[in-house]
Amino acid sequence: MTIKIAPSILSADFANLQRDIERISTADLVHVDVMDGMFVPNISIGIPVVQSLHPTTTLPLDVHLMITQPIRYVEQFCDAGADIVSCHVEADTPPNIHKALELIHAKGKKAGVVLKPNTPAQAVLPFIKEVDMILVMTVEPGFGGQKFMADMMPKVRIIRGYIDEMNPACDLEVDGGIDPATAAVAIEAGANVLVAGSAVYKAADISECIAALRNA
Ligand code: DX5
Ligand code: ZN
Repeated sequence: MTIKIAPSILSADFANLQRDIERISTADLVHVDVMDGMFVPNISIGIPVVQSLHPTTTLPLDVHLMITQPIRYVEQFCDAGADIVSCHVEADTPPNIHKALELIHAKGKKAGVVLKPNTPAQAVLPFIKEVDMILVMTVEPGFGGQKFMADMMPKVRIIRGYIDEMNPACDLEVDGGIDPATAAVAIEAGANVLVAGSAVYKAADISECIAALRNA
């Protein structure tokens, strides 16, 4: 399986985002964490930042919406230049999450769903046939630099089974506490897209760290 690396700019220097995106040019995606201070107890960046970043990189922008009722904003994120927009299944009712995914696809972009650690694997089933990516959180969303939850691996395995059976083109992403050691564990469980914030941006050699994650 081809492994894709998505460094999270949550750990970048927000005063030097263009420079810090150039530093991850050997990666596959740029992971953008959007937080509203409601769905998660933190506030990060939003639509204008995505709009400014879009022309600075050829890497696809992988936008992780940690916001309540994402249906309100998904089209604006698409118009700002997001390539993949993912919504938490806990952030609204299933019909509204379906509608949000439809709005993203209608903009010609990829759509994903995200599960918090306490949300069971089965929560992806209503959406699995229509999504391009499923993201399993391996920390509680809200902050970078937390410890990888190895107890999420059974969930990753179950969802890998669902994907292989029902939507083999769907990517399976993990996010939180990923470094070259935990990356190997997540890949073994079935993940093929790895988000890493602090591991990448704290590395002495960023390209080397990205290569180490890819070959974990
Ligand atoms: C957490 C974010 C993550 C975060 C990961 O809510 O979704 O993308 O940046 O950071 P690390 O890799 O430091 O755990
Ligand atoms: Zn994220």
